[in-house]
Amino acid sequence: MILTNNLTRYFGLTKAVDGISININEGEVFGLLGANGAGKTTTVRMMATLLPPTSGTIQINGFTLPKQAELVRNFIGYVPQALSSDGSLTGYENLLIFAKLVSLPRKEREQVINKMLTLMGLENFSKRLVREYSGGMIRKLEIAQALLHHPKVLLLDEITVGLDPVARHSVWSVLETLRKEYDVTVLLTTHYMDEAEALCDRLAIMDYGKIIALGTLQEIMANTNTTNLEDAFIALVGHHVEEGGDFSETRRLRRTTRRLQ
Ligand SMILES: Nc1ncnc2c1ncn2[C@@H]1O[C@H](COP(=O)(O)OP(=O)(O)OP(=O)(O)O)[C@@H](O)[C@H]1O
Ligand SMILES: [Mg+2]
Repeated sequence: MILTNNLTRYFGLTKAVDGISININEGEVFGLLGANGAGKTTTVRMMATLLPPTSGTIQINGFTLPKQAELVRNFIGYVPQALSSDGSLTGYENLLIFAKLVSLPRKEREQVINKMLTLMGLENFSKRLVREYSGGMIRKLEIAQALLHHPKVLLLDEITVGLDPVARHSVWSVLETLRKEYDVTVLLTTHYMDEAEALCDRLAIMDYGKIIALGTLQEIMANTNTTNLEDAFIALVGHHVEEGGDFSETRRLRRTTRRLQ
C-alpha cells in the first residue's frame, strides 16, 4: 500500500531522511520509531504530499509521489504532530469544515460526521467547544477528521505525545477499533516503546534519517538478542530514546503538551 524506494530529503546540508526503503502492506499498522530528529515527521510529511522528496520515490496505492499528489490526497488521511483542530469551534463544527474541505457531498455530511463521532466515542461531546476537550479527545477528533473521506491510508504523527496514560490508552483503543472494524492501513510514528509494542504489526527503527531495523517486534528482538523493544532500541541506537533532541524540539514538545492538558 505504501512503498518507498531510497527516499531522501535534505534541509540545506541536513540529511533528514537518508535513503529509506519500506513496504507497508494493506491493512497493516506500521510504526516508525525513533528519537527526536530521527526523521519521522519528514518521512510522514513526504507521504502526506506536503513535502517533495529530494530524491527517491514514494508509491501509495500504486500512485507515485510527488507526480500524482492530487490523486493520492483522495485516499490518505493525515494527523500532524502539532495540533490541527480549532479550539474555538465545537467538535461537530471542526468536522464540518473538514467535510467541506474534502468535498463530502452535502447530503452525506451529517451522517458521516455522526458515524465518526460515535466511532471515536465523542458523540456526547459534539456540541462542546474543542478547547474544553481533554487531550485524548482532541486527538480522537483529529483522527475522525482524517477519516471523513474514508481514506485507504491513515498517517499519524506522534499523536499521543503529551497525553496522560489514561488518554493514551483511550487513543490506542480507538486504533484497535479501526484495525478491527475499518479497512485502513495505518502508518504511525512514535518514540514510545510501549506504544510501538502494543499497536504495531511491524516496526521500522529510524536513527539519523536511516532505517536501522525493520520487522515484527519478535524479529527485531531476536536480531538484537533482547527480550523487549527498549533493550533492542538501546542495542541498535546506542542510547535511550529520551536522550538527544535540541532546545527548539523540546520547547515545541512542551507547547504541545501544555495544550493537551
Ligand atoms: N523544515 C525544516 N527545516 C530545516 N530542518 C528541518 C526541517 N524539518 C526537519 N528538519 C531537521 O531534519 C531532521 C529530522 O527532523 P524530523 O522532524 O523529521 O524528526 P522527527 O523524527 O520527527 O523528530 P521529533 O521526534 O522531534 O518529532 C532534524 O535534524 C530536524 O532539525
Ligand atoms: Mg516529528
